[in-house]
Amino acid sequence: MASTPDSPSTSRGLAGVTAGRTAICSLEGTLRYRGYDIADLVAGSFEETAYLLLRGSLPTATELDAFSNRIRKAARSLPPLIPELLARLAKAAPQASTMDALRTAVSALGQLAVDNGPQMPVDQLARETQTTIAEQLIGQVAAALATWVDLTNDRTPASWPEQPLAAALLSRLRGGAISSAEAEAFDTTLILYAEHEFNASTFAARTVTSTGADMHSAVTAAIGALKGPLHGGANEKVLQQLGEIGSLDRVEPWLAEQLAARRVVMGFGHRVYKQGDVRAVLLADVCRGLIRTDGMAESHQQLEQLADRLEGLMLEQKGLKPNLDWPAARVYHALGLPISVFTPIFVVARMSGWTAHVVEQMGDNRLIRPLSEYRGAAPRAYSMLAERST
Ligand code: COA
Repeated sequence: MASTPDSPSTSRGLAGVTAGRTAICSLEGTLRYRGYDIADLVAGSFEETAYLLLRGSLPTATELDAFSNRIRKAARSLPPLIPELLARLAKAAPQASTMDALRTAVSALGQLAVDNGPQMPVDQLARETQTTIAEQLIGQVAAALATWVDLTNDRTPASWPEQPLAAALLSRLRGGAISSAEAEAFDTTLILYAEHEFNASTFAARTVTSTGADMHSAVTAAIGALKGPLHGGANEKVLQQLGEIGSLDRVEPWLAEQLAARRVVMGFGHRVYKQGDVRAVLLADVCRGLIRTDGMAESHQQLEQLADRLEGLMLEQKGLKPNLDWPAARVYHALGLPISVFTPIFVVARMSGWTAHVVEQMGDNRLIRPLSEYRGAAPRAYSMLAERST
């Protein structure tokens, strides 16, 4: 069925279909959050971007301070049942994906908060309540991630540091002293991952919201969607692939094998950006800067050479440019983070975009319910069980 062409009114994967409207993000010309060019936003902080996404305008210094404190407070006051639940899960299935742990944590947080969604239509007061839930979720999911990492490494979960979110999360995930260059690079990845219009996970969140369900349910669905390797899971696969290639002389034969087997190369191509992903260009500079930092191990320089070679060959042979996951995976690796937290970090960042979309959908809702093109059996007569031959 997959290889048969679409009928004129059907688009596989909804490619090219405008499925709704948003004031949060646009990809026309370049990527903009609420009208601001992403190339400018990376000069600020993740908290500034999250505030912009959720509240629609850039914060003043006082507003930013209060917002950052609210997120930190949420991270510091994770309901005790969440670490207890995660501790039991870490014991029962320590190899489980960290994405599963986050999905479960968000779902449990919704149940604990008895979140049954807002009364429709959503008025200004309900909007504010939902935005407060969104702010809490950003802090809570970051704390849940750090808790899971501690638990699966046989450590007692530490308390949340009194630092901006990027520095706090990096220090909880990796430990040791965090330099300002490292915190800045990590912060940039969070800003770039924060929002991206009607991607698969955001669309999943909006679809759930459109039924009148609550924000926790919507975000739980979004985490499930982000786990997939064609979406958020790609950043983990990028590093696994680079590890699999291993050395510079293996790049060409490895790529030939992948393409011959019609396997996709992770970190390349994009449904919307056919001329290249502006976020990948911005982060590539950050990645180069970080690798050049004094004391960065030679193995990182070698990995970069290998990555450059693969990037050149992908352009030459497939005409494909990298997407954001390509440099993001290498930045996380250079920061000393384990592969298993790459996509969960994406969750922490994208929580701001998802929840902004949930609030927007609640405020201008119509049930999302598309049609399908039927390609199954022609109408046929039903026969009773006893009449069917074996
Ligand atoms: N490696 C190899 N070939 C790729 C490719 C990749 N990363 N991405 C796309 N292609 C090929 C497709 O197989 C297709 O080839 P064909 O015409 O011979 O069948 C052609 O390029 C066109 O791609 P298309 O099917 O239009 O892409 P899409 O819009 O359906 O898919 C992605 C977009 C992101 C799912 C796809 O590029 C992909 O799987 N990339 C790798 C995963 C990834 O990095 N995901 C993160 C996205 S931000």
